[in-house]
Amino acid sequence: MTDQTPRNILVTSALPYANGPIHLGHMLEHIQTDIWVRFQRARGNRCIAVCADDTHGTAIMLRAEKEGITPEALIDRIRAEHWQDFQDFLISYDNYYSTHSPENRELSELIYTRCRDNGHIAVRTIRQMFDPEKQMFLADRFIKGTCPKCGAEDQYGDNCEVCSATYTPSELVNPRSALSGATPVEKESEHYFFKLPDFNAMLKDWTRSGTLQPAVANKLSEWLDSGLQEWDISRDAPYFGFEIPDAPGKYFYVWLDAPIGYMSSFKNLCERRDDLDFEEFWKKDSTAELYHFIGKDIINFHALFWPAMLDTAGFRKPTGVYAHGYVTINGDKMSKSRGTFIMARTYLDHLNPEYLRYYYSAKLGSTVEDIDLNLEDFVQRVNSDLVGKVVNIASRCAGFVHKFADGKLASTLHDRAQYDAFVAAGNEIAEYFEQREYSKAIRQIMALADRANEYIQENAPWVLAKQEGKQDEVIAVCTQALNLFRVLMTYLNPVLPEMAGKAAAFLNIEDFAWHRAGTPLLNHNLNAFIPLLTRVEKAHVDAMVEVSKEGDTTVPAANAKAKSAQAAPAPKDAKTDKKAIKEPAAPTTIQFDDFAKVDLRVAKVVSADHVDGADKLLQLILDVGEDTTRQVFSGIKSHYQPEDLVGKNVVLVYNLAPRKMRFGMSEGMVLAAGEGKDLWVLEPNNAIPPGTKIS
Ligand code: MSP
Ligand code: ZN
Repeated sequence: MTDQTPRNILVTSALPYANGPIHLGHMLEHIQTDIWVRFQRARGNRCIAVCADDTHGTAIMLRAEKEGITPEALIDRIRAEHWQDFQDFLISYDNYYSTHSPENRELSELIYTRCRDNGHIAVRTIRQMFDPEKQMFLADRFIKGTCPKCGAEDQYGDNCEVCSATYTPSELVNPRSALSGATPVEKESEHYFFKLPDFNAMLKDWTRSGTLQPAVANKLSEWLDSGLQEWDISRDAPYFGFEIPDAPGKYFYVWLDAPIGYMSSFKNLCERRDDLDFEEFWKKDSTAELYHFIGKDIINFHALFWPAMLDTAGFRKPTGVYAHGYVTINGDKMSKSRGTFIMARTYLDHLNPEYLRYYYSAKLGSTVEDIDLNLEDFVQRVNSDLVGKVVNIASRCAGFVHKFADGKLASTLHDRAQYDAFVAAGNEIAEYFEQREYSKAIRQIMALADRANEYIQENAPWVLAKQEGKQDEVIAVCTQALNLFRVLMTYLNPVLPEMAGKAAAFLNIEDFAWHRAGTPLLNHNLNAFIPLLTRVEKAHVDAMVEVSKEGDTTVPAANAKAKSAQAAPAPKDAKTDKKAIKEPAAPTTIQFDDFAKVDLRVAKVVSADHVDGADKLLQLILDVGEDTTRQVFSGIKSHYQPEDLVGKNVVLVYNLAPRKMRFGMSEGMVLAAGEGKDLWVLEPNNAIPPGTKIS
């Protein structure tokens, strides 16, 4: 059942930006990658998976400035959060590194120098918008103004979201810097360009050599035929990144050093692992395989610039670049107002990661089609497939084996042909996993699970168990069924590693290595049954959506601020190398008038109660010194018992627009300090009468 000799494989997922949290869109990619990686390992191949945070660029620099910390401090914090999210989603990276690393600086300089020495770097003076107040050049997205075509106000420097016109920032009417509000001026600057057209012929071959999905290769060949553009790889100071070796004050554009981050993360791993050799994987004639899993928005970086840079710098090129589509939720783009812009952490606060791993796998194919996470279907599918079909097999049979045979399986299979058919189906299933056709693999696995359940149904061990002298038959049926379960778990193990771990403990086996399934478990002692997976509760899904809603009044003040800074990476235009940034950082100060708009008042907690169906909310009834009380739902349940709050004075955002929640109206917001585990409700002195204004 195993393949020939073990393959040497290095796999990556795109490096998430360090300027925002991981959300369920990112998770599609990391789950897709991880299933493939775990599958390869189960097949006996050596498969290394690395990732890292993508830490450079203007957005990160500005966000750090806004938070009043260094970019280094910011990226360290975000990386720890990202890493924890991936750990908790059971993603098995061998290394999760950072592009702001010594290895990455060294490799970026090396690759750039080789590109330059081979004559592929051009230097040209360009004119660009400059913010005279901030003293920095402005990317188009940091310029706003009135659309020259339709007159819509407040449009970005490169396109109008109202009439879809595209233009240059100098065409905008009344342009202003989104950073300072100043009127930008045009200024000259020397930029460094990577001469991509030099690689046209090489790329034509490479993109057609089976490295890309057919649809992607077709799209790229249109560009290759119409001629490639030189790529601007430098940015002027101030910029958070690596300075270009021979060009003081010029920095590598973030997208130059980002893919090199794949190499650096691997290099850093090699420094810690004696069995891994950097050269063996990256040298020009390497026989190791290299795969990049990415989203469809960043194909040009991976399938044009990246192989060209590797090629001229003397390194190998990827074996495959595999793009996936975008995640939509309930049929639409993820949206804060609908509560479907769901952070990985929010999901994990409410639901088991394996539910999502399963659901995504049941939907993923090898194409760039978008994937819809329909939350109702999600509940239904996970419950009926995993709990209803797979777990059910084991839970129905385990008890009998312990009761009648001391936990020992019979010495022969009841139906060897059926077992062999289950094992033989593994070839096709493996091929589907290999081809990233996970949904097809899952369909086959669930068809087998149906057959296993039919077998149990037909042989009804619970009926036999009640009959005198039929205990051996009961054990025969359960031995057969549990062996089928073992084969099914072998196939599901890449998708459901935690459930597989529990199943292995119960079955008393080492692991679910693919080739072991060929030999059934006979005369074999089982351990006590452990519950493998519980049903998804719809209430938990609803609660997750509720706390994901924008302007959620249940989010304590400190979190609310963090949340608004967590702007989603905007969709990227695959044809340009500009990474769109949806929300340019706001100016770092506000005017007094802005502050004065917030009406803060002291309120006394009259009562506090748990809310049915909400994991995090407490319902607070507040005395605000008026005839009627106010009701506020506050996300502080994990930190406070209702009885601790009654009688306390709190700070209420009195004029926050009321919001209808599933549980009722929330009429304001209670301020708290801190976030995550360390959170305290602000408590004004108890002597202050309720209703007193705070200013
Ligand atoms: N930092 C770059 C990648 C550099 S790779 C050398 C970047 N970062 S990102 O955080 O914006 O996106 C990381 C990955 O997540 C990309 O592959 C992107 O396509 C993917 N996704 C981001 N949002 C997504 C969805 N809503 N759905 C599916 N994947 C999405 O791009
Ligand atoms: Zn317009």
